[in-house]
Formats: sequence, structure tokens, C-alpha cells
Amino acid sequence: MPDAAPDTIYLADYQPPAYLVDDVHLTFHLHPTKTHVISRIAFRKNPDVQDGRFELHGEELTLLWARIDGQDWKPFVTDGILTASAPTEAFIWEAEVEINPSANTALEGLYMSGGMYCTQCEAEGFRRITYYPDRPDVMAKFTVRIESGQPATLSNGQKISGDGPHPVLLSNGNATGAGEGWAEWHDPWPKPAYLFALVAGDLVAHSDTFTTRSGRDVDLNIWVRPGADEAKCAFGMQALKKSMTWDEQVYGREYDLDLFNIVAVDDFNAGAMENKGLNIFNASAVLASSETATDTDFERIEGIIAHEYFHNWTGNRITCRDWFQLCLKEGLTVFRDQQFTSDIRSQAVKRIDDAIVLRAYQFREDNGPLAHPVRPESFVEINNFYTATVYEKGAEVIGMLKLLVGDDAYTKALDLYFTRHDGDAATIENWLQVFTDTTGRDLSQFKKWYAQAGTPRLTVRDEYVDGIYHLHLQQATPATPEQNVKEPLLIPVAIGLLDENGAEVLPTTVLELTEAEQTFTFDGLASKPIPSILRNFSAPVIVTHDKTNTERAFLLAHDTDPFNRWDAGRMLAQDVLMLMVRYDATPDAAFLDGLAAVLRDDTLDPAFRALVLRLPSEEDTAQALFDDGDTPDPTMINRAHETLKLHIAQHLQDTLPRIYADMAVTGPYTPDAEPAGKRALGNAALALISKLDGGKQATLQFANADNMTQQLAALRALLQISKGQDALAAFEAQWQHDRLVMDKWFALQVSLAAPEAAADTAQRLTEHPAFDIKNPNRFRSVFGALKGNTAGFHQSSGTAYALLADWLIKLDKLNPQTTARMTASFETWQRYDTDRQGKMRAALTRIAQTPGLSRDTKEMVTRILG
Ligand code: ARG
Ligand code: ZN
Repeated sequence: MPDAAPDTIYLADYQPPAYLVDDVHLTFHLHPTKTHVISRIAFRKNPDVQDGRFELHGEELTLLWARIDGQDWKPFVTDGILTASAPTEAFIWEAEVEINPSANTALEGLYMSGGMYCTQCEAEGFRRITYYPDRPDVMAKFTVRIESGQPATLSNGQKISGDGPHPVLLSNGNATGAGEGWAEWHDPWPKPAYLFALVAGDLVAHSDTFTTRSGRDVDLNIWVRPGADEAKCAFGMQALKKSMTWDEQVYGREYDLDLFNIVAVDDFNAGAMENKGLNIFNASAVLASSETATDTDFERIEGIIAHEYFHNWTGNRITCRDWFQLCLKEGLTVFRDQQFTSDIRSQAVKRIDDAIVLRAYQFREDNGPLAHPVRPESFVEINNFYTATVYEKGAEVIGMLKLLVGDDAYTKALDLYFTRHDGDAATIENWLQVFTDTTGRDLSQFKKWYAQAGTPRLTVRDEYVDGIYHLHLQQATPATPEQNVKEPLLIPVAIGLLDENGAEVLPTTVLELTEAEQTFTFDGLASKPIPSILRNFSAPVIVTHDKTNTERAFLLAHDTDPFNRWDAGRMLAQDVLMLMVRYDATPDAAFLDGLAAVLRDDTLDPAFRALVLRLPSEEDTAQALFDDGDTPDPTMINRAHETLKLHIAQHLQDTLPRIYADMAVTGPYTPDAEPAGKRALGNAALALISKLDGGKQATLQFANADNMTQQLAALRALLQISKGQDALAAFEAQWQHDRLVMDKWFALQVSLAAPEAAADTAQRLTEHPAFDIKNPNRFRSVFGALKGNTAGFHQSSGTAYALLADWLIKLDKLNPQTTARMTASFETWQRYDTDRQGKMRAALTRIAQTPGLSRDTKEMVTRILG
């Protein structure tokens, strides 16, 4: 084990809080640089804790005074912890602090974005607002008074001038009073401080109402700044209402306040935040119109609105005891939002989309230096653990649990969870206990999914002897940092068996693999069947199964499980690409013919066909080569991908124009699954057509597009054949007033730049007047895209590595959280040749050695370097 940093926090060290809080009263005197926060907190000793100190968290606060039961009190403050000798009975703590929202570029706590005040308190941002026990197991009722816009004399005699009117003043819960320049809010539901929120600004609401099934009328608002954003709220509102209905119907969960507010802000580190009754959203995760947002944006927005809304029960009513339990709310809420999207759109397409994301981000994380369990056991900075493993693998674990116990037992267990733990700060043990109590099942082996990091490898062998079919399954999980020894997991392996005509001789059956090696036998089959393994991606594992291309092509043509049908094509494509990289092979005809057959099959959902047509990413191929014992060369991989696309275009030459024409959508734009699927397939065809027609069709589509999906797809097709310069300029002229669309303009140029031009393009775009290092969306649109241009990022010169390091060093001084997250761009360094490794290590070391580096970034680069 490496030397633990002194400030490492361990799950094993958890201690319940010595003091509990019943009520909190906060008064805010808002001012851009001198906001004053007066707190009045009713504490009482936790009866379950014998001794233990009175401790409050606080960071970047100027303490003006403190009182206990009305007496002036002199606390000690060191390293963000305030201690005071406190009474052992109940007492009232009062304090006043000054904070500076304008200087807050970290976007944690209270900060300013586009002229409005807003907050982000998860995970530990509330301690930047006032002194408080900032831990999720301290739950209290909050009453908040906000004063703004007028000069005020503070309780210490200091006068502050107002900063103009902020007519809209919002906090959690229900509005209990308001007047000129002030408002008061009360949240009747006890909550941890991370769910606190405040917004103040010149805002307008897109409003609607919802009546819950027990008859509560709820006012719904999406708040934006006056102007163009007002026309981008309607879709989010519909998504919110759909989410509210779905959660009533599927989980029996109703909303519990009279008001539900959403606010869109430009500057936000994450996607969105589920603050009680006052969700705050990154503008990109809520605002959409047909002209400015793509089909993909619409679907993402719908999913995020649902996600944040679903947190009201899984996160807010039942929260986490401590941050190690983060997956308790995040894994479950991701699982719920995936179910929602699957129910209201297409199950098969959603499962494939989720598998693509999981394999790309979570498998990469799980197989590199940042691997950690779904429930981590230690951290330095909790913000570094809002990861694909906690979120997406956390959701997969719940999907497996549901598959193992069955749908009815799952529903019963969830009902028990909600009744038993309502109002609690709960743990994974509590969560699993409701399943044990409902089903009587011993889940101790299953629980290892929460503790064991790494992606299990599932090896499949089969044979047919004397009329009996034997399926040998073997599991092994590679070592991960700080976890060398791995134990067998309980893996639900859904399988089906097909005969040589593609008829199902065994319908989907779930095998429970519990040992390192196990054999399952099937009797009564007339001949050796063709197995379809891990149907619907029943577990987050990597399957190794030596299959010929003919067998894969057979499954691509016949598998009755849509996920595995798609996956057979995917594996086939990956094999073809690997052969092309390694031996400069020409693509296998079995693959090209299989692709053509799926493409021409009009009985298949266009969205599904579009997914089959989509190749694995260059990043996926790099990982596949590495897993197979090779050192991937990003330049060669890029060449193979480009060559394969050209082969596909030529092979499908006759079909593509027909598909493109058939997929034309007439009538006004709607972001529904059906027309979106047609556009997805039509645009996949367009990208291929452009390789042959010099961009004629794409130029036409660009000129005629009346929605962003079509416009952006045309621009992308043109940039892919290096013919997009005029379109790019036209796009900029058309959209320079719209930040979210301009993010696309920045990103596309970098991600589709020729590999040797990627770093220069990124560098040049940082000089564009609209580049803004303080805006996370804009920063990511350039540097996230640089990382996403695999061959460009890994140019052997190392220029892209150095450029990214330069900018991360700059950003760290302003915004540690986003910097730390983006250092993960280097997480795959161990895959590459020694020269590239050296250059990536040098970039990381340069970041690590920067004086004054944040704790967030320090932890990340240390872990990545290993
Ligand atoms: N709870 C929020 C969500 O899942 C995300 C908060 C992100 N916070 C962070 N520190 N990264 O919707
Ligand atoms: Zn969440």
C-alpha cells in the first residue's frame, strides 16, 4: 500500500456526529463581494454518542462573531475545522460570516454566474457559506431569509450598499413571505446541508402545474434570465411532468412540496443538482429548442431532469450516511433514470447506449490507475469520486440485483426501503438488508460488487457431447490499485441458445455464476446450439469467447436478443479493425455483408440500425489492442478507422442514397424517439455518402437544415472530409450569440481536426474572444474535445499533452474541481509506448509539482502516476 496522504479519510473511521441539529435559521445579506450570512442553529447532544467534540466545518469564511446561548464565544479555527467548548445540553449557536461570491471561481458554495447568485453545495460546498456540521448524517429543517438589492446596516454596524435589484429570491421548500428586496423560505423536510440552495437574480419563469395522484397541486417553474433562453424551457417542463408521473406509476413515489423550481445557470461544474425543491442545472442540461439542441441533447436533458427529480426520494428523503455511500443515491438514481428513458423511448436502444458509455468510461476507469470500488474505502477529496464507477457501475449493480431477485421482489424491496428508511441517512448495508428481508436471500457474495474494484473477465467455452451441451464459464478479475486479491463474484449471466436456422431453442435464461469456474449443462438439444451470452448485457463484465467471424455474423443476422445482435456486430467490427491495424488487412466480407443486411432490413428500428452502423471509437480499439497484448499506435488506429469507413461507404454505395432518402423526416421537428431514430440513421448514411460525393449532399443539408440535429450532422460530415471551413464560418456568424451552440462550434473543430492539427486548433481557439477559462462548459468544449480526438491527443510530438497540462495548471488556480476531473485525460498513459508514456508522465509530473496545487488535482495526479 502506498503511503497514505495525511488527510486521507477512511470509511472504517466513520463516527456518528456528536451533536445533532434540529433547526437552522439563515439570513443572507447579498452583496457581490461582501455577502453576510447570519446563522442561528439549534444543537443538541447526540444521545448515541458518549463523548465527542463540537466541530463545525468552514472554509474561506471571515468569522465576525459567534455566540452560544447569547454569550459571546471565542472558537478555535484551524484547517477548516472550528471547535468550541460547547454545553452538553441543547444550545443555540449563532454566528455571522462574510463571504465573497464574486471571487468564487471554484463554483462551490455561493457564487455568481451571469449576474445571478447561485449555490452548489454537494459534496462539501456548504462549509463555504457558513460554519456548520457539513456532513450528510446531520439533517435539519432550514428557514432562510434572503435580503438583496438594498443598502443594509449589518448587525456589527457595518453598512453595505445594495447591488441593484434581484427580484427573484429563491431557496428550498416553500415561500413563507416576501417583500421589496427580501424573501423568506421554509423547508419542512429535514435535510443535510449539501441539499441547501439559494438563487437570486433577475429571472423569469416558464411555469406549469402538476397534480399528484393524491391531489396535491404543485407549481412548477423553470427559471432563466430574460431573453432567448425563455424559448428553451418547454421541453424540460414536459420532461419534468413525465418524470413526476412515471415515479408515481412505477415506484409509487409522489412529490412532497407545493413548489418545484429549476434554475438554469451558465457556470456549473456538473450537470445538475437535486437541491430540495430547488434544482440547479447547468444550462446545457435543461435548455433546448429545435434550432439550438440536437436529438441527443434532448434525450440527455430528459434523462437529467428525470435523474434530479428522482433524487427527491432516492437522495433527499433517504440520503447517505457518509460520502462513501454515494452510490446509494447515485447508482440507484441512475438506474431509475435509465429505466425511465427505456420505458418512454426504446428499451433496446437505451441498453445499447448505456453499454457504450459504460464500456467507454467505466471500463477504462476500472482497468487503469483510477480504479476504485463502487463503494470506495478511502478518499482525499470526495469530489474526485463522482465517477463512472460510482454512478454507472453503481446502476449496473442494481440492475443485476433486480435480475437476480425478479421484478416483483424488487418492487417489494423498494417499498420496504422507502418506508423503513424515509428520513434516514442510510448505508449500503441498509439497502441490501431490505432485499434480504424481502427475499430471504443471503446477499453476502453479491455485496462484493460494492467492495471489489475492477472489471471481471468472463471466459466462455462450450462443447456438445453425446447430446448434452456443456457451457463452461470462468471468471477472473485483474488486480487493481490496492486490491491484488480478487474473489469470485455472483454474476448473473443471461443466455439464450439458437439453432442453425436462428430459431431459439432455449429462451433467455439467467445462470448464476458464483464460482471461479462452473459448467452448466443443457439436455435434449438436437444439435450443437449457437450460444448467445450475456444477453441484454446482464452484468458489467468483459466476455472472452473465441468465436469465428462467421459465428459473429450469424448472431448479427439472427440473435433474438437485440443487445447481443448489436454486440455481435460490434465485436466483428472490432476484430476487423484490429486486423487492419496489425496486418493492414482488408475488411472481412462477412462483416461488410452483415452490415449491409442490417442496414437494408426495413423491419428494424432505424435507431438500432444507426447503432449497428456506428463503429467502435478509436479509443475502444486502442483498449482492445492493449487488452490483447499489443501497444496501440493511435496514428495507425486512426488510419484503420478512416480506411474502414471508406470501405463501408463503397460497399454500401448503392444502398446509402435510398436509406438517406427514406429517412427524411417531414413535418415540424419533434425530438421524439421515432423521428430522432430516422435522423440518426439518415445522418449515419450522410457521413458515409460524404466520403464519396465530396460533400455535395452534406452542403445541401447544411443549407436547408431547420433544426440543430440536421445542421450539426451536416457540419460534422463536412469537417470529416476537411471541407467544413465555409460552413464553420457561417455557423459562427449564425450562432455567436448562443453560448450552448457555440460550445458545439468549439468542440467540433477540435474533435474533428486532423490529428496533426488538433493541438494547434485547440490552442488557436483559446485565443478566440469567446473562449472563457472560467466557464466549465467552454473549457471542456475545447480540452475535452482535444482528449476526445484520440490520434490528435496522442500525437507522438507530445504537443497536445503539454498544451493540456499548461491549461490544467492555469485552471487549477480558479477551479480545482473541473481541473481534477480533466486530469483523467491522462489515465490511459500505461497503454502506450515508452516515448508517449514518458511524455504523459512528464506532463503529469509538471502538474503535480506546481506550487499551491489544489488538493483535488494533487490527489488525481498522484493516483494516475501510481
Ligand atoms: N448529485 C448531483 C447529481 O448526480 C451531482 C453533484 C456533483 N457534485 C460534485 N461534487 N461532483 O445529479
Ligand atoms: Zn445524481
